[in-house]
Amino acid sequence: MPETKQFIEQNKEDFLKELSDFLSIPSVSTAPEHVGDVAKCAEWVSDNLQAIGLKNVEIFKTAGHPIVYGEWLEAGENAPTVLFYGHYDVQPTDPIELWTNPPFEPTIRDGKIFARGAVDDKGQVFLQMKALQSLFKNNAGKLPVNVKLLIEGEEEIGSINLEGFLKEYAEKLKCDTVLVSDTAMYRDGQPSLVYGLRGLCYVEVSVTGPNRDLHSGSFGGTLENPLNALCSIIDSLKDRYGRISVNGFYENVLDLTPQEKEEFAGLNFDEKGYLEELQIPMTYGESGFSTLERVWARPTLDVNGIWGGFTGSGAKTVLPSKAQAKISMRLVPNQTADEIAKKVEAYIKSIAPPTVKVEVEFLHGADPVLTPMDTPGMKAAQRALKKAFGVDSVFTREGGSIPIVLLFDRILKAPTVLMGFGLHSENTHSPDEHFNLHNLFKGIEATAYFYEEMANEKK
Ligand code: BES
Ligand code: MN
Ligand code: MN
Repeated sequence: MPETKQFIEQNKEDFLKELSDFLSIPSVSTAPEHVGDVAKCAEWVSDNLQAIGLKNVEIFKTAGHPIVYGEWLEAGENAPTVLFYGHYDVQPTDPIELWTNPPFEPTIRDGKIFARGAVDDKGQVFLQMKALQSLFKNNAGKLPVNVKLLIEGEEEIGSINLEGFLKEYAEKLKCDTVLVSDTAMYRDGQPSLVYGLRGLCYVEVSVTGPNRDLHSGSFGGTLENPLNALCSIIDSLKDRYGRISVNGFYENVLDLTPQEKEEFAGLNFDEKGYLEELQIPMTYGESGFSTLERVWARPTLDVNGIWGGFTGSGAKTVLPSKAQAKISMRLVPNQTADEIAKKVEAYIKSIAPPTVKVEVEFLHGADPVLTPMDTPGMKAAQRALKKAFGVDSVFTREGGSIPIVLLFDRILKAPTVLMGFGLHSENTHSPDEHFNLHNLFKGIEATAYFYEEMANEKK
């Protein structure tokens, strides 16, 4: 359909201005000081949905950040209904000093747009809106299928209020296929459909010793140092072969099928390029598994941060009263966040020395997912990606999590298509996050084709 390409060509400049506007709003969902900005961003999304022609656009308040909804249902009862899901919230920007340009002052360099949220997920939500705009424009204000959009502001903090919303509005959100654009392509130029996401179990461990910080000379050697105790607890969580020691941790892990192993191997993962890009001497992980197997289909346990005592410059002789660590576990089918939270707490308590008080607090979680690969949505997506990129797409998994995807299946009983246009080199959650403009425009094109191809699929 040359009209889509033409529409993109004619509007590129305007699109980039609009996207810059969107990216300028600091919608950091985890930061209390940004509550107002997150709300402003929801308004921006809602205004844009209205402007491109969606109906019944509404901002739903929640106990946390608002959810934006819009729809166009005039394709009729016999046409399929696609529910698009994305998020307009972003991660914090620290360490801020490592950004080349300020994170909320979008800058274009070398064909890429740099800003927090550029690829995760505002840029990808934006390309979805522009695809719909192009379809409306080229089809006299009509779309080829029924479309509902659900754009939330709490994905980066675990989608805490979305489950309730899905349950309450299950009828309103009823659809045949869910479309999500919040993942990466296997490599640049290689369109990809993701059929698996890992889950997450995030806990904070606190170890408390004496009632106050102490002089390490006057007291050292007479009582347990909470930081030392925490380090030995952490050391006991994994063995040196990268296997997690928590009792029953692997009990529900679904092994890769021989066919999946073969398919992963067939993707010829560029191990050397990986080392070079990350500037590491070698990869490391659970023995017996390849890098792709480790990141896509094996669970992990990692310390995200650890603190306590003195961390300023210079030296201070002190025994900390308290030590803490944030620990996350990535989960794979059929593990669940609840099950793992219980197991890890029990294990940590069982190895905790009697010399200190040890507490484990569950912060948030997400269950892992595998989506079926032979659905009408997947087939339409394959054709659309081929048309836009000129090459066949590959099936991949992702090591990251999107908490709500499993619930689309459970609550709405609809399969999800994960068709994203990011790259793993685009610094998501990290300084200098960016989105390749070429993929932004290809994404608009592929998404417009997707809706057209969906019209050719039976409900
Ligand atoms: N878009 C990501 C998920 C993702 C990560 C997809 C990597 C593909 C590759 C999403 O915004 C995200 O960051 N999710 C969080 C979820 C968590 C905060 C519950 C994650 O995976 O850490
Ligand atoms: Mn995301
Ligand atoms: Mn993210």
